[in-house]
Amino acid sequence: MVNTLKKWRCTVCGYIHEGDTPPAECPICGVGPDKFELIEEEKPKRWRCTVCNYIHEGDTPPEKCPICGVGPDKFVLVEDEPEDGLSKEEKDKLQSLLFNVSYGLYIISSKDGDKINGMTSNSFIQITDTPLRGSVCLNKGTRTAEMIEKSGVFGVSVLGQNNHDLVTHFGFQSGHTVDKFKDVSYITGEKTGCPGLPNTLCFIELEVEKTVDLGTHNMFIGKVVGGEAFHKSEPMTYAYYRATR
Ligand SMILES: Cc1cc2nc3c(=O)[nH]c(=O)nc-3n(C[C@H](O)[C@H](O)[C@H](O)COP(=O)(O)O)c2cc1C
Repeated sequence: MVNTLKKWRCTVCGYIHEGDTPPAECPICGVGPDKFELIEEEKPKRWRCTVCNYIHEGDTPPEKCPICGVGPDKFVLVEDEPEDGLSKEEKDKLQSLLFNVSYGLYIISSKDGDKINGMTSNSFIQITDTPLRGSVCLNKGTRTAEMIEKSGVFGVSVLGQNNHDLVTHFGFQSGHTVDKFKDVSYITGEKTGCPGLPNTLCFIELEVEKTVDLGTHNMFIGKVVGGEAFHKSEPMTYAYYRATR
């Protein structure tokens, strides 16, 4: 069990008292509560992976992210990032409401010159129908977000219920350290040049109209400019993926 009691030091004799408040009288030297000071517990530094959000505690960032494999240069100190002003209890409560929201799963792809990359995302949605627009929200440190910023285009491969392998392949390693398309068959989008995955339901191509800076993430709003259908089948939802992985 975690010890959550506060620690108080007697500034006269050094006696340590544990409790929510200092003692009425120091049992060693007899002074009152006004002579006690709260001992601030040293909290370990927290580092966030800007690619996959993994949190590491320690004096320095890890050599390698255990989730997506990127190096220490992709980590930022959490204290340097803006806070949302919520207590842990409030945050947990509000977060639990958001667990009721449902999502689809997609491979978002882009290009940078002759290089291509893609990542798993649950954040793609259609946002308007005239013109047809969609948006996606990606961690700024991902290789895919970097490519979209540079090229101004992205592709969306819509996953079906048999695409678990693609979720893992594109979601738990980064284009910063591996070539994810090396052994994967893909088509090249006619309008944008972004790669699409033929073993999915369909491929949608978008041109970025607006990029919204959300601190940790960039939201890319794009106009649908092309695409093609592949397989007719049930789409993969995040809930289905979690229940069957
Ligand atoms: C189910 C699932 C959903 C994800 N959704 C998102 C998302 O919406 N936005 C995001 O930034 N990362 C998301 N990720 C994490 C990225 O896919 C992951 O960090 C990836 O390694 C980034 O690759 P890249 O650096 O090659 O672009 C998701 C991962 C999984 C497994």
